[in-house]
Amino acid sequence: ALERTLSIIKPDAVAKNVIGEIYSRFEKAGLKVVAAKMKQLSRQEAEGFYAVHRERPFFNALVEFMISGPVMVQALEGEGAVLKNRELMGATNPKEAEAGTIRADFADSIDANAVHGSDSLENAAVEIAYFFPATDVFAR
Ligand code: CMP
Repeated sequence: ALERTLSIIKPDAVAKNVIGEIYSRFEKAGLKVVAAKMKQLSRQEAEGFYAVHRERPFFNALVEFMISGPVMVQALEGEGAVLKNRELMGATNPKEAEAGTIRADFADSIDANAVHGSDSLENAAVEIAYFFPATDVFAR
């Protein structure tokens, strides 16, 4: 089915100047960018976005990392977009990520792991709405 998912290129990958390389992987896999913005997240925005992880031991480090520099936030659209994006990203821990995935190629650690992607269709809708009003998402 045609789906949308939320993707974030994290501060480490923005700093490495690989936004275009990562967008190219989305496009080659048939995912279209239907909304996008570069943004410096506030602490409050990062905490709200990752609220489900609030009780996890890595929460504070995650928030600190996500506000350490600008991020690129995009909604991607395509057939099976949620799973397709997760396959492109590879495992959360880059040490476990398959060769040729975004995290295997660009991530340094489980914290600085280059990209975020929604883990379910339900969360994708919530996460897209967190960053983009409906008028800023372009069906194409
Ligand atoms: P992300 O997909 O953005 O969702 C939560 C993030 O927490 C995850 O990617 C990792 O960057 C980070 N994180 C740090 N430690 C862990 C861990 N042990 N398990 C899962 N995520 C972790």
